[in-house]
Order: sequence, then C-alpha cells, then structure tokens
Amino acid sequence: MHRFQRKGGRLYAEGVALDRLADRLGTPLYVYSSGTIVDHYRRLRGVLRAVDPLVCYSVKANSNLAILSILARLGSGFDVVSGGELERVRKVGGKMERCVFAGVGKTQDEIELGLRFGVKAFHVESEEELDQIASVAGRKKGRRAPIALRVNPDVQAGGHAKITTGTYANKFGIPFEQIAAVYRRADANPRLHLRGIQMHIGSQITQAAPFRAAVRKMIPLVERLRGRHGLEYFDVGGGVGIVYEDALASGRDGWWKSLRAAKAMTLSEYATSLVPMLRDLKMQILLEPGRFLVGNAGVLVTEVLYRKETGRKHFTIVDAGMNDLVRPALYEAYHQIEPVGKPRPGAISTDVVGPVCESGDVFCHDRSLAPLEKGDRVAILSAGAYGFSMSSNYNTRPRPAEVLVTGTRAKVVRPREKVAALWHGEKRS
Ligand SMILES: Cc1ncc(COP(=O)(O)O)c(C=O)c1O
Repeated sequence: MHRFQRKGGRLYAEGVALDRLADRLGTPLYVYSSGTIVDHYRRLRGVLRAVDPLVCYSVKANSNLAILSILARLGSGFDVVSGGELERVRKVGGKMERCVFAGVGKTQDEIELGLRFGVKAFHVESEEELDQIASVAGRKKGRRAPIALRVNPDVQAGGHAKITTGTYANKFGIPFEQIAAVYRRADANPRLHLRGIQMHIGSQITQAAPFRAAVRKMIPLVERLRGRHGLEYFDVGGGVGIVYEDALASGRDGWWKSLRAAKAMTLSEYATSLVPMLRDLKMQILLEPGRFLVGNAGVLVTEVLYRKETGRKHFTIVDAGMNDLVRPALYEAYHQIEPVGKPRPGAISTDVVGPVCESGDVFCHDRSLAPLEKGDRVAILSAGAYGFSMSSNYNTRPRPAEVLVTGTRAKVVRPREKVAALWHGEKRS
C-alpha cells in the first residue's frame, strides 16, 4: 500500500505536500515515502510467513543510504552486485551474514572485499568465476569462500527483453543442465563452502506462472543437490512486478482494482503459487526483491519549462530528463504522470519530454493529461526503483536531490549535485 495521494486536490507524499517540497528544494526532485517501504517489506514477509524467508533487498533498485537503513532496521538482508553496493550496506550497519554477493563479473578486489566483510555467499555465475573465488580464498590462510551457484532455469519471464534474465539467450547464471557437474567440481575444492542455490528469472514479472514454472523445474534439482552437497538455502531471486498504471493510492480496494485492471497477480497469488513447493523443501528460503519494495515508494517531481506545438504534436518540456530517470527511454517503460497541484479541468494530448539532447528523452507519447502550463509541476509516479540508481550526469546535468518523507517530516537524504562537482578530478590539457 503506497502513500502518495491527493488531499484537497494537491498531491501528497504521506503528510507532506509535494508542491511545498518543490518550493523549498527545487526540481527535479526525488521524493520517497518511508512508510510505503516498511509496508511493502512487512506485506511480503507476511504472505510468505509459512516459509519464514530471508528477504535480501536488491540494492541496485535504490541504493540511497536512507533507504538501506530503513531496511537494515527491519532486519532485511541485502543482495549486492558490486563492491560499492556492499560498502553501502556496511555503512548503514547491514548484517554481512545476511548479504549475498551476485553479479556476472566480480573482480578480484570485489571477491576479496566480500571475503573480508564475511558475506553469506557469493552467487556464482560461471565456472571461471568459481575458480577465481577459490583462488582468492586460497591466498587467505584457512579461508573457505561461501558460495551458491546461480542456475539459469531457461524460463521466459519479465516485462521487457532488457529485463529478462532466465533464458539461455541471457548472460546470467549457469545452464540448468550443467549445474550438477559444477556443484560436484565445487565440492571437491577445499577452498569452497557450498551453502545454497539461486535463481532469478527476470524483473517486473506481473504473473505468477513464470515463478511457479521456474520453481517447479528447480525443486527436483534442489532436492538432489541439497542431499549431495548439504545445501542450506534456496534463493528464488526477485522480479515481483508492480502496477505502474493507476499508481495513486485510493484506499485498499482501489489498489486491488488497479491490480485487477492490469491483470496483474496479487501478492497472495504469488505466495500461494510458491509456498506449498517451498515449504516442503525444508530449507532456508531467500528472496531478492528490489522493485516491489521501493518502486511505488518514490516519485520524481519536475517542473514544466515550456510547451510547443509542431502541427503534428504537442510537447510539454519539463526540467527532468532521461539522465534523471532513464526507464522510459531504455525500456519504453510506462510511468503515470500527475499534476502536483489540483488538476485543471479538461485534457490535452501531449508528449512529456526532457531537456536532454536526444530524441529518446521522452517520458510519454501522446498521453492524455490535464492541461498544463509553464511553471506547473508534475510528478512522475512509481520512480522509486531504478530511478536515481540508474541516473547519470549526461549533458553535464547535476542529479536531483532526494528527500525521504516519514509522516509529516521530510529529510533531504542526498542534496542536489552542484555543477562544479561534476568536473571534480578532471584536468585541463
Ligand atoms: C540477481 C537479481 N536479483 C534481484 C533482482 C531484483 O529484481 P527486482 O527489482 O525486479 O525485484 C535483480 C534485478 O534484475 C537481479 O538481477
């Protein structure tokens, strides 16, 4: 249940009006709701309580220290894909024994860091990586590296070709048919400690069927390998999708109706399709949600700079660009766009575009929106996941400030970047 809603016509994040925040802090501005993150974490653990899962939040979705510390306080584990992400988790006091270290290209330095910090396991994606991890552990006296293999179950899933990960056309994981042999090899290496097995089939999956198919395919393999190698956990990955349409909270029923309208699974459908199979395994179950926890917990507030009409199209030019939120340009992703103030009556059909010098810098095409004027603000909804964390300084644009709202309190958790900081460290020739 997320907490962005209209009160008296104005858009609020929890108890704070977004226009007040924009007046104070400028635009573009990321605003997060901490209550939404807490709700989503608890709801996910709640529907899966029969298997008492260890939730390892996927840090790549949003790695701001404020977000990580909310989750660390809730007892969450973390799924990291770089040494940098691991350092962030440590910085907020996240428990290293609840951290899994994933990624297809871990460097020697990153492996050393993971070993030194004492992560729960490295999720290994190739045989060469396995050898590399064993060799790094071999340089440390008496050290064994904890590992789990990432299985590619070859199941089609995911909302877009660029976020599908579980088929043999993707670079991720070790093919299902090769897994048993790689575990045998790993088990023979005294430098490795086999702890678990992992899969992750894709992102923004809004149907239960692909999860059910992948877990069903994995179960016999997991049972066999658990017996043979003493595996402790089965990690089913992340990927639970969110509803990007009709993303404003309108009470419990409203939210449920929007899931139905989008023909998306509910969280309990996800749970009911997996829990019976997972419970029977009697192993520790890990999940790696990213988007589900933070996606609907953030919006990007931006101001209308100009409007223009070309004869073929109407454009609304805003001060946020694809460098601030790349999902529409990269994945053709849909984000609902809502006026921050009271919507004017009527509708216009417009392309909302950013100032970046790319034709792809478009947040929506021919969208019917309430009429907007220069100086109005709009909120691009559901921007909490893969928003700021994928942002860049393209066009030498300083990245937006980030604000965390808790009830009626708003805290700047990352200030707007200063232009001069963008060439810090560069030298004139
Ligand atoms: C291995 C792994 N785990 C978890 C996630 C998180 O996915 P999502 O944000 O869709 O839950 C990803 C992202 O694609 C991933 O690659």
